[in-house]
Amino acid sequence: MKGQYLDEQAYAAMLNQDLVLYEVYEIKRPESAGELMHGISIVHPGKVGDEYFMTKGHFHTVLDTAEVYYCLKGQGTMVMETPEGDWSVKELRPGCVLYVPPCWAHRSVNIGQQDLVTFFVYPGNAGHDYGTIEQQGFRKLVVERDGRAQVIDNPRWHAIER
Ligand code: PA5
Ligand code: NI
Repeated sequence: MKGQYLDEQAYAAMLNQDLVLYEVYEIKRPESAGELMHGISIVHPGKVGDEYFMTKGHFHTVLDTAEVYYCLKGQGTMVMETPEGDWSVKELRPGCVLYVPPCWAHRSVNIGQQDLVTFFVYPGNAGHDYGTIEQQGFRKLVVERDGRAQVIDNPRWHAIER
């Protein structure tokens, strides 16, 4: 997660605490197109500076593969963007189905006080491209302002050659 949270000092201070920010439990299936990978993601509540705990986020290696999330518990947002510059931030509430369309990078953010628990399912051949997000970040960040979640521009976002 280095370089993803805006407040680098707060992030560095947290590294000493050996905290777990999120956990993923996946039923492994063969990485082939006909298969479905599926599992549970748990993002714990908390913040790094003003920024809520979140997943690393990724594009799929096979870019045009989609994903479905079903929110089981908690309160969160899914931050998404495309290589072309579109972005979207959608709510995650228990009982909500969230569809991540093909070609959209995705990151879940816990904006609540309890664990954010989601079930996810995606094609077996999708793969995870973490490198692009590691280098350029997401265009939008979710931070707490006056006790509420707010979406802001990521001042550090920059495009890389793909
Ligand atoms: O495939 C997915 O999108 C999820 O299973 C995520 O991998 C999970 O939520 C953890 O996020 P990340 O893989 O970005 O660390
Ligand atoms: Ni995914």
